[in-house]
Amino acid sequence: MKTTFGPQRIMFPCPTALVVTGTMENANIVTIAWISILTSSPPTLGISVGTRGFSGNEIKENGEFSVNIATVEIMNEADFCGITSGREIDKFRETGLTKMPSKIIKSPIIKECPLNLECILTDARMVGSTNHFTGKIVETHIDTEKLKDAGDPGSFDIDAVNPLIYIGGAREYRKIGEKAGDAYSTGRKLKSKE
Ligand SMILES: Cc1cc2nc3c(=O)[nH]c(=O)nc-3n(C[C@H](O)[C@H](O)[C@H](O)COP(=O)(O)O)c2cc1C
Repeated sequence: MKTTFGPQRIMFPCPTALVVTGTMENANIVTIAWISILTSSPPTLGISVGTRGFSGNEIKENGEFSVNIATVEIMNEADFCGITSGREIDKFRETGLTKMPSKIIKSPIIKECPLNLECILTDARMVGSTNHFTGKIVETHIDTEKLKDAGDPGSFDIDAVNPLIYIGGAREYRKIGEKAGDAYSTGRKLKSKE
């Protein structure tokens, strides 16, 4: 039986992204689950960042940020960055996460994350009560030992990556499960009558 609940903002699953803005000397990390690729040409993503935290204004002022995908191994550190504010503490120092210089932007990337995207802010607008930031991806860092084919950035061994999945609503973290099928392909089984 379906029941209606009116407008809700529940979504699952979500990646757990660690967004870094600032400089190598002075950087902050914020945990962001509301993130999506917006277009492939040019590669661009969007993040929703609340107005009450420290990061919203920092991203607007710096005009750039890095997106670092968290893994299960750093679950406690990722959660910490989502329940504390850069206004009060240095999250790199408190978590022990390692800063690495980006190639193009001033904001660092996080060494412990297997996928890091350097982004330049191309649009900042309010969507309702929240900042919506559009970031053009200008560089991509990948731990090649997590790739099946070291020359192919799309060939992630997702079990080796062990991404930290966030379940909105339940407010819990999950691990990735088994492969269910091949995308853009398995649906062909329903086209058999052609
Ligand atoms: C799993 C998780 C996901 C979160 N996702 C978002 C999000 O998508 N957008 C957002 O604004 N805050 C999100 N938060 C909350 C911020 O990370 C939190 O308000 C943080 O303390 C702000 O830090 P800052 O003041 O250093 O910017 C999330 C927190 C957690 C634990």
